[in-house]
Amino acid sequence: MIPNQWYAIAESKEIKSGKVTPLRRIGEDLVLWRDDMGKLSCMLDLCPHRGAALSRGKLVDGCIECPFHGFRYDAEGQGTFIPANGVNAEVPKVFRVQTYTVREEHGFVWLWYGEKRENYPPLPFYDDLNDSFVYGSVAVHWKSHYTRSIENQLDVSHLPFIHKNTIGRGNRTLVNGPYVTLENDTISVWVDNRTDDGTPPTKPTKMPMPARPPLLIFKFPNIWQNRLGDDFRIVAAFAPIDDENSMVYVRTYQRVKRATRLRWWMAQLTSQFNRVVLREDQRVVETQRPKIAGLDIGERFIPGDRPIALFLIHRRALIQAAEKGISLSAGQEVVAAADAQIDWSVAEDGEIHPNLPYDLLRRSRQTPISNN
Ligand code: FES
Ligand SMILES: [Fe+2]
Repeated sequence: MIPNQWYAIAESKEIKSGKVTPLRRIGEDLVLWRDDMGKLSCMLDLCPHRGAALSRGKLVDGCIECPFHGFRYDAEGQGTFIPANGVNAEVPKVFRVQTYTVREEHGFVWLWYGEKRENYPPLPFYDDLNDSFVYGSVAVHWKSHYTRSIENQLDVSHLPFIHKNTIGRGNRTLVNGPYVTLENDTISVWVDNRTDDGTPPTKPTKMPMPARPPLLIFKFPNIWQNRLGDDFRIVAAFAPIDDENSMVYVRTYQRVKRATRLRWWMAQLTSQFNRVVLREDQRVVETQRPKIAGLDIGERFIPGDRPIALFLIHRRALIQAAEKGISLSAGQEVVAAADAQIDWSVAEDGEIHPNLPYDLLRRSRQTPISNN
């Protein structure tokens, strides 16, 4: 997990009013619930009294009530009532459940993974996906760490194999480039695959700057978009459950001006199609070892893996920057620095070596973390 980030962890519609919803995320058992105004609260699913799961309890007067001895906690996690002590007894401050800062936007629940603050950075989403779009969604549990699920969606050479009969038809096995940028914690990838006619692929560093928009746009820490057209996008959130599991939420966004009935059918069809494609990925990704992706786990990279390498480099930089208490505003200069260090396409042993020292990344702009 990268500290000090907003993670999409669930769809808003999963958290129903008047109910307590247990959810395993970020390696913890959490419980989510709404107060009478619908405001969301997220806390550890652990009563500080004798350790019972609060999610087995119920909501009473805007508080969550533990099923064991009836202690109540408000939305901030503070104990408000200990029945055994009587209605007039004050509740000691130590009866407090650990809470997490959560927000709801774009139909997702976002969890702040890091220290609580006065002010938080904006949520990492796509500004152009506004109300003019409608979406249908699919959620699938993968037995893979969320980094492996993300890597898979930045992998431009797997399509003719895993998706031979769906999105990978056409035998376009050869990978030109790809052209990749990193700006504002966003990786953009212009995919340019073709059939192998015996001519070598274009080196990543020799790819001209494309005139069209990128096909894949990943926003740290866990949001991805496949820009299939101005009016048609696939968006995914890879919610971390724990070291061996992630939840993959895939949405099809479309802007069709015609009748809603047609729109509904299109949403159903594309959701079904997404399910099939996801299953093709899942079958293989769940077999990857080690479970957590990384730069130092002995795996090898080819030039076509450039988006994955960049994801892993920047992920490591963000983790290290957070540990040092600085915010890393890396941009295109990180890619340029990486390109200066490595010939991504013609390393003598036929591999690329994206294992950059952190010092190189430190050349990119750093600013101290402030409270806003
Ligand atoms: S364990 Fe929760 S009230 Fe006792
Ligand atoms: Fe795939």
